[in-house]
Amino acid sequence: MMTFEFNEAFAQSLDTADPLGSFRDQFLVPEKQGKQRMYFLGNSLGLQPKSTAASINTILQHWAEEGVESFFTGKSPWMDLHNALLDQLSVIAGAKPSELSVMNQLTVNIHLMLVSFYQPTGKRKKILVESKAFPSDQYAVHSFLEHLGLDPSEILVEVNSGSENVAMRNEDIVHAIARHADELALVFLGGINYYTGQLLDMQHISKVSREAGAMVGFDLAHAIGNVKLNLHDWDVDFACWCSYKYLNGGPGAVAAVFVHEKHHADTSLKRLTGWWGYEKAERFAMKNSFVPEPDASGWQLSTPSILLYSCLKSSLDIFSEAGWANILAKQEKMMAWLSALISDLGSEYFECLTPDARGCQVSLLFKEKGREVYELLFEKGFMVDWREPNVIRLAPVPLYNTFTEVWHFYSALKAIIFEVYATKKPVQASE
Ligand SMILES: Cc1ncc(COP(=O)(O)O)c(C=O)c1O
Repeated sequence: MMTFEFNEAFAQSLDTADPLGSFRDQFLVPEKQGKQRMYFLGNSLGLQPKSTAASINTILQHWAEEGVESFFTGKSPWMDLHNALLDQLSVIAGAKPSELSVMNQLTVNIHLMLVSFYQPTGKRKKILVESKAFPSDQYAVHSFLEHLGLDPSEILVEVNSGSENVAMRNEDIVHAIARHADELALVFLGGINYYTGQLLDMQHISKVSREAGAMVGFDLAHAIGNVKLNLHDWDVDFACWCSYKYLNGGPGAVAAVFVHEKHHADTSLKRLTGWWGYEKAERFAMKNSFVPEPDASGWQLSTPSILLYSCLKSSLDIFSEAGWANILAKQEKMMAWLSALISDLGSEYFECLTPDARGCQVSLLFKEKGREVYELLFEKGFMVDWREPNVIRLAPVPLYNTFTEVWHFYSALKAIIFEVYATKKPVQASE
């Protein structure tokens, strides 16, 4: 249990002792009138590494000098970039490099994974999802089922927390899997819910899904680069994520998938194919019948964007330099600090929707006037996220946020609460 003092000097002492403190300098922090803003939106769009522009320029230069030969020549041929990304990502995903493929965008990859991992047979046809999944996941699953000529209302089993603003309980998911064990073909959930910030017990959910005879996959948009994952050991069948949030790959960054190695040689899995998934050694032989790369790279379809690869590489280089274990350790400390400060503000004006199982994000549901609070925070230089009906989400990120920024957020919120709810009694805080 960490003990904290609630004052700015203590916050500064946490920053002084922070072994990752200098990494903030590797990012471009948005400014207003020459002053850095307090950016708590790593759950939305991670900040730009200063090295990204140079990485892009290197690709442009290579292209200018060597044209298409750049795929095969120079210090870092473009053909080798994918493997370099896989090596770095494997640490963050808890996977073997061969189980990963960096490709496309997240929603596209959800469709591709559904093609492979939704294998309805006999009465085993159902897909277990969460009722409050991110909309794109819902649209993808619905349209995919309709494309197969199936009625989503007959196929989908939705786990509901009972209320829009309450996190789901892992037990409810586990019970729903048990209840539908004979009918489930697939369990597909968000590893961290985008709205509440809740982190699911993916290891346990994978185990019970497997025992029920269903495949299991996760959308890890809000989990990758944020929390510790062990996708291989958890025996997850597949996962997919975008790279523009905690991975700082830039707007519309190239996404990635995890396909457990136990499926790589399974020819009964259907998949949509394209030439970039062809066995690398023979890809340019232009043969007619498709022979996939013998691992997750076999799910690739198209020539990748080397520019997007280079953006992601810049950020993953920072992760490698900082060390994933160090990043996770700082995340835990920073979130304990934030949680202690939020608790100190009491529960009269807002409640924290995020349970203890979470990553960097917390979601605060205001009882009223949440939008006013959000706008005042914004005016004071805090970049946080607004969600209807009354939710402010924020995510301090270990690579570029500081303990002092978290302190400033607390002090500002305390003052704003006093201002906005002036007719009521001021918030009970420790100072
Ligand atoms: C949980 C989740 N799933 C899916 C998406 C959609 O991702 P994309 O637009 O990259 O397909 C997002 C986007 O933020 C998301 O947060």
